[in-house]
Amino acid sequence: MIKNLKMTEFGDFQTPLKLAEQVARLVFERYSYVRSIVEPTCGLGNFIRASVKANENLESVYGWEINSEYIKSAKNILCNHKRSKINIEQKDFFSIDWSLLPEYLRHFVLFIGNPPWVTNSELGRIGSRNLPQKTNFQNHAGLEAVTGKSNFDISEWMLIKIAEYISGKKAAMSFLVKTSVARKVFLHICKNRLSLKSIDIHNIDAKKHFDVNVDACLFCTEGSSTSPKGYACSIYESLSDQRPVKTMGYANGKLVSDIDKYGLLKDIDSKSEMPWRSGIKHDCSKVMEFRLEGDRLINGFEEEADLPGDYLYPMYKSSHIANDRLRHPVKYMLVTQRRLGIETDSIRILSPKTWTYLQSYKDKLGSRKSSIYKNAPEFSVFGVGDYSFQPWKIVISGLYKNIRFRLVGPFQEKPVVLDDTCYMMSFESEEKAEFVYRLLSSKVAGDFIDSVVFKDSKRPVTVALLNRISLKYLANHLGLADKYNSFFEKSKQKQLNLF
Ligand SMILES: C[S@@+](CC[C@H](N)C(=O)[O-])C[C@H]1O[C@@H](n2cnc3c(N)ncnc32)[C@H](O)[C@@H]1O
Repeated sequence: MIKNLKMTEFGDFQTPLKLAEQVARLVFERYSYVRSIVEPTCGLGNFIRASVKANENLESVYGWEINSEYIKSAKNILCNHKRSKINIEQKDFFSIDWSLLPEYLRHFVLFIGNPPWVTNSELGRIGSRNLPQKTNFQNHAGLEAVTGKSNFDISEWMLIKIAEYISGKKAAMSFLVKTSVARKVFLHICKNRLSLKSIDIHNIDAKKHFDVNVDACLFCTEGSSTSPKGYACSIYESLSDQRPVKTMGYANGKLVSDIDKYGLLKDIDSKSEMPWRSGIKHDCSKVMEFRLEGDRLINGFEEEADLPGDYLYPMYKSSHIANDRLRHPVKYMLVTQRRLGIETDSIRILSPKTWTYLQSYKDKLGSRKSSIYKNAPEFSVFGVGDYSFQPWKIVISGLYKNIRFRLVGPFQEKPVVLDDTCYMMSFESEEKAEFVYRLLSSKVAGDFIDSVVFKDSKRPVTVALLNRISLKYLANHLGLADKYNSFFEKSKQKQLNLF
């Protein structure tokens, strides 16, 4: 148990020697000018062993590590090595004063290794302070970082430190990291215009090498004497692939996953002419959602609910939408308000049975944790407005990775509502909804989405992504500009004339 806690605290996944050797071969072929290496969190020293094997010309080799037991073992393993210039020292990465590093570690140096795989929130949970202390990293103050209020990988902090150090120098870095961390480091490089070039990501199989289910890669870059005009990061499927499968880029302050594809479609990346919104949030599905068994409504407590239809709506959740076939709704949602924040007392008069039902679950609804319910009317829901009750909707799941739009019409003469795991755009007219659905389910829209999203991220579909897709420019690409204008621009003009 103690050992496991320690492993968590230090994000400890020692790199298998075979993998370290494969990385070292690739890296030294690339950076043949390197004369010194630093492994800043060297553990048992496998990267040091692999590097001295791959490059006979190394003049000095430094290993830093926080854990004294590892230092002892690494020294034992490396003591027989004929090269006398291997220095293993106990050092805490976070207390290194980079301005005091000796001159010979400024140029022709390669930083190589595999930094800790742990986030500040994980450290906060176990009460560890293995973190940068006096820093305001990416606007997260030190204490906030410890309490886990903000979440970041400590390897992100380490790699950024090294990237800033090698910027503008003839020096390089190569590290095994989570792919999400590599992307954040790339974003930092672009935003801060660091003088770095030849930025690459080589995917690795983390399950095979470390027995962890996470996307991981080798992230490499080297200093450049000038600040580059633009930034690009070549993505290779594996350590042995010679050709990149695509190139990640940076445009309008954001990362794009395929800069070549994006270049052809970038005009679409402006703003959706109609807003995308989340579905309804109630934080109490056992009370507010029902399935129909025969003619009986059953809630999440398996209790029968005696409810009239007036506040009930057919509903979809993410799992329904992401399914291969979209079936008729099989669930219903009790929606207590038609607009945000309006009173709910009138339900007592308008629908006494609904009121009785809500009263019987008063405690459950009253103890919803989110602060949004604190000063809101009793039994409130959120993410609700006129748009929730429009008959036609284009919907997409925010939970699943298959990016698929669906056209949803009324069911049993009622609008279908969505839970807050889904996003939607709603319409009064079926014709308009069908047209927009045609735009969004086109290959062009798919290609645009492919060019900007990272499918390996936890939730590739976000409301921010959807709101970037301009329907007008999508229509232009599809040769449907006239139709778009007849639906949207003319009605806009009509409204303007009216006023
Ligand atoms: C993912 S392991 C990798 C070890 C080694 N680099 C390798 O590739 O086999 C991360 C290492 O970072 C060390 N570590 C954690 N926090 C550190 C810190 N603040 N300073 C230096 N080393 C640290 C851990 O003890 C552990 O050995």
